[in-house]
Amino acid sequence: MFNEASNLARGVDITFIFIFSFTVFFVIGISSFLIYTLIRFSRKREKNPRQFTGNIKLEIIWTVIPLIIVLAMFYIGLIGFTPMRKVPANAMTITAVGQMWRWEFDYGNNRISKDLVVSLNRDVKLNLVSRDVNHSLFIPAFRVKEDVVPGYNNYMWFRPILTGEFDIFCAEYCGLNHSGMLGKVVVLDSAAYNKWFAELITSSPAVEPPGLTLLRSNNCVSCHSLDGSKIIGPTFKGLYGSKRQVLTDKGEITEEANDEYIKRSITDPNAEIVKGFNKGLMQSYKSILSENDLNNIVDYFKHANEQK
Ligand code: CUA
Repeated sequence: MFNEASNLARGVDITFIFIFSFTVFFVIGISSFLIYTLIRFSRKREKNPRQFTGNIKLEIIWTVIPLIIVLAMFYIGLIGFTPMRKVPANAMTITAVGQMWRWEFDYGNNRISKDLVVSLNRDVKLNLVSRDVNHSLFIPAFRVKEDVVPGYNNYMWFRPILTGEFDIFCAEYCGLNHSGMLGKVVVLDSAAYNKWFAELITSSPAVEPPGLTLLRSNNCVSCHSLDGSKIIGPTFKGLYGSKRQVLTDKGEITEEANDEYIKRSITDPNAEIVKGFNKGLMQSYKSILSENDLNNIVDYFKHANEQK
């Protein structure tokens, strides 16, 4: 019935089924009793209503039984939860990086993968790092979810017990594209995993162009997407050399996004507004970015087009 893809899933499912069964039992039980009393003690059948005051036996019963039930829920939940915080010593460590609005997995030495690729039956510890705001890494098939908080070293671990691909979600509202902050876990058998890992390790480490680092560190990418989606400002995708319909003091004109256009958009963002976007949402970065920074950013946009 349940797709349990990690060693930790069973504990969560047992707790869920346990609590859910009691919920169903009481919803049906209480509703039925209520309906029964409505009929049995209606005015037609009971002309003179009876009064009751105090019943020690009943008070004890409806205090002690629910107490036992909730303590049992707590205990079963605890049994499922405790192993989640105890990372086995031999677990392999991967750093999961969350940022608006994507996940990245660093296997060490800047060997980065977009998907979380792991080996069947091998314990994995994820160190959870945020580059900006609060996120939450959620892998439903593994029944694991942990907050990813900037400046705080949170972690999670699991042992994948099924091969296949499983969804990763962000479970903490983190801005406009929160719902699009998706990822994938790929569980491979050990031979396929070793092959994949060897390729990752021999690949050259991911080096980010300085221009892109500047766009990230100044939070430009929070309003201008890299993937073509429309956020608050126009996307950066395919920017360089594109024709832009812009509104200026003199009316609507068409311009080419060349070096000057890009630099002007950063240092005097409200002089020209791309059609379909609002004025006044961006401040000037004239005093923040140096001429060298601006050149690096322009360079990045030039190369970003060549790669596509
Ligand atoms: Cu990241 Cu929501």
